[in-house]
Amino acid sequence: MVVPESQGKMYHPPLELHRDAHVPDFSSYLVMYKRSLENPEAFWKEVADEFFWKKPATSPMLQYNFDVTKGNIFVKCMEGAKTNICYNVLDRHVREGNLGEKVAYYWEGNLPEHHTTITYGQLLSHSCRCANVLKQMGVKKGDRVSIYLPMIPELVYTVLACARIGAVHSVVFAGFSSESLCERIMDAKSSVLVTADGVYRGDKLINLKEISDEALEKCVEKGASSVARCLVIKHQALRTKTGASCNRLQTPWDSERDVWWDEAMSDSSEECEPEWLDAEDPLFILYTSGSTGKPKGVVHTVAGYLLYTFLTFKYVFDYQHHDVYWCTADIGWITGHSYIIYGPLANGATSVLFEGIPVHPHVGRFWEIIERYKVTKFYTAPTAIRLLMKYGQEPLQKYDLSSLRILGTVGEPINPEAWQWFYEVVGQSMCPVVDTFWQTETGGHVLTPLPAATPLKPGSATFPFFGVEPTILNEHGEEVEGEAEGYLVFRKPWPGIMRTVYENHERFENTYFKKFPGFYVTGDGGRRDKDGYFWITGRIDDMLNVSGHLLSTAEVEAALTLHPAVSEAAVVSRPHTVKGESLYCFVSLKDCKEFDKKMADELKRLVREKIGPIATPDFIQNAPALPKTRSGKIMRRILRQIARNEKDLGDLSTLADPKVVEVLFSQRSEATA
Ligand code: WTA
Repeated sequence: MVVPESQGKMYHPPLELHRDAHVPDFSSYLVMYKRSLENPEAFWKEVADEFFWKKPATSPMLQYNFDVTKGNIFVKCMEGAKTNICYNVLDRHVREGNLGEKVAYYWEGNLPEHHTTITYGQLLSHSCRCANVLKQMGVKKGDRVSIYLPMIPELVYTVLACARIGAVHSVVFAGFSSESLCERIMDAKSSVLVTADGVYRGDKLINLKEISDEALEKCVEKGASSVARCLVIKHQALRTKTGASCNRLQTPWDSERDVWWDEAMSDSSEECEPEWLDAEDPLFILYTSGSTGKPKGVVHTVAGYLLYTFLTFKYVFDYQHHDVYWCTADIGWITGHSYIIYGPLANGATSVLFEGIPVHPHVGRFWEIIERYKVTKFYTAPTAIRLLMKYGQEPLQKYDLSSLRILGTVGEPINPEAWQWFYEVVGQSMCPVVDTFWQTETGGHVLTPLPAATPLKPGSATFPFFGVEPTILNEHGEEVEGEAEGYLVFRKPWPGIMRTVYENHERFENTYFKKFPGFYVTGDGGRRDKDGYFWITGRIDDMLNVSGHLLSTAEVEAALTLHPAVSEAAVVSRPHTVKGESLYCFVSLKDCKEFDKKMADELKRLVREKIGPIATPDFIQNAPALPKTRSGKIMRRILRQIARNEKDLGDLSTLADPKVVEVLFSQRSEATA
């Protein structure tokens, strides 16, 4: 790698950013990067020195095997050390850093009039009290706690409370259906569920407790009865919401199992000695879609995740102590875990915690929040940018966005048009855009610009973070040098990479390591250009990225075929101007069943119920037959082209019955959107 020469349009960091930046220019990045690969021991040791260790490590900073042919895959960071991540992100700041009075979160509710401030001192005391409540409910080190909550401060308290007592948190995004919640509770065998009575998302009232109850009933029906207690938060903002709409919410109650948060917290002590955990003890499970349809419980461990989220946050957002940082993700996803909770708190940062949606109660909501809190670093998703672009510049012009210094995106490739709008309109051409590529599995950013150091090319996640060694392989597993395109893989671990799939190490090895022994396979295609910049070319497995959420086609197909009239279903991606990709579903019905709008609506409802609103099909098309090879494999390439109305289908000779394609094209216009 060399300092990139300007080839095509590049965007250089503004001069004033260089001055105080942790990595002030590209040559400094190169020096540090080289050192992180050549001497990882010293590099990571220095990072670990920032933190408190009850017992030091007794082995090297990183040990691993990435080659399935040589034995089990494993990654270990700082084996032998004992620590507690909650202590490191809270007590350490309050006790040693004097940050007790510093704001940890500005919480902003669904409506602008609902907001509150939480200092580091308060965060510590609430988390300790919640930890004591969980202990009282019988939660012990190693037990799993499922958390199904909206973006409220109690969600952060609960996550940190688990971390404090060594319980493994499993946060389930509160947009998931009762079926998905049940599946995740059962897989983790959680003993406690933490939820809320309900939440407003925009105008819509969602009865979370009712969904939770349904999920718990389903668990029992399926023979699992692991959840003994359910802790329920009475969501303040709901109670203060004006009159009638609030009364609509009936909270079902099981007095044997359910406990109100307020009551339990009121006599709970704020003193809670942290549980000193092994560096490699699990910290959390977070489920992500798997290409077979069943979600995978990605497991992250204490020490490595702490080091990695700390360091990526510090460098990628060039964290300075006066910053007000805002990540718009939900804590139900990895971005929220790493870059709303652990990374910012490990640095002692002040963040905005936002419960609402970008367009409620008006389309300038994001800009209003940036002005209100004088946000300096703003991290969001391309899908949100594309949505807000549609409203033009006017909503922004009403607000003062001059506090902004650095912008960031995550979750999906950003199209150049959205990048340009983010950079020029939101950032006034003065704020670098860090396009961060990473995954639930990677724990933190792996390909990313550093804001004061990396000349930017719109749409490229640019270069590897410290300690990360990407490469590109061809179909035969051979590394391709220079300008090339193929499978994006990593040659060695960094501290924050996942350790296993919960209780299914074999699936972990098969998914990420079997295809190319010696490498972690991301499942994404990658391209390296002539300047060495990396570009993500999209998933190469049967995964879809809808509004930055990964969904597996198999998962949606499985939901569709649960309908008694459906004999077969195939789901493909179709480009969407706001969501990036959308779901186009082909369904074959059983004999004598009629396909009509009612049927399509039923199918959409079914998918919503089984997975959640994020998986709602955008199009459903009747498919009397699906295009298959002679061996019976569905040719998804052809379905994708039909969905996109691309008539030039190329070679159809492998199809068992090419006439199927004509029929599908002729019925295309009847697809129900
Ligand atoms: C995609 C989200 C292009 C990619 C943190 C990856 C991206 C998947 C980017 C992981 C980016 C994420 N550019 N594609 N900057 N960031 N992706 O697990 O396909 O929800 O594999 O983690 O999102 O999604 P996940």
